[in-house]
Amino acid sequence: MQTKTILALFCTIVILLIGHNDGAPTVEKTIIADKETPAATPKKPKFTGARTHWKTNIDAKTAKLFNDHKVTVSKKLNAVHKVPRSFNPKPAKYSTQIVNGILYHFLVQIPNNKYAYVTIVSRTWKKPNAPADENVTVREQLYGLNDKNI
Ligand SMILES: *[C@@H]1O[C@H](CO)[C@@H](O)[C@H](O)[C@H]1NC(C)=O
Repeated sequence: MQTKTILALFCTIVILLIGHNDGAPTVEKTIIADKETPAATPKKPKFTGARTHWKTNIDAKTAKLFNDHKVTVSKKLNAVHKVPRSFNPKPAKYSTQIVNGILYHFLVQIPNNKYAYVTIVSRTWKKPNAPADENVTVREQLYGLNDKNI
């Protein structure tokens, strides 16, 4: 009889311990999951959106951005492609891309009937948010308006 009682008590304790342990791993699992997350993060590719389709209809906001940077665009078109400073560059088409800000891609016709590839990065939340030379780049390569590989 006493052995049965001890056995019953033992079983009760075991069940209680199992019950107690069932709760514990939940907390541990959460910690494990937290530890796994940072390890997995570097494997993820840095988020960079795809470029949109080229648009020939330049909206007011984009035209303003281009005009705000026109002095720099002229200066760099002159430096890279020898475009006279007196030339008034106008975008023929544009596309946008989310890259830690908005990257605007422009094809700008230059006097030899070729198109220069100009990009302007807009990070207007970053101060100072004035148009700066560093926000504008002009590629060395020239393009045709309807080149497919761009
Ligand atoms: C130009 O780039 C700088 C540095 O990233 C940034 O602070 C500034 O806001 C940018 N200008 C515009 C007009 O986005």
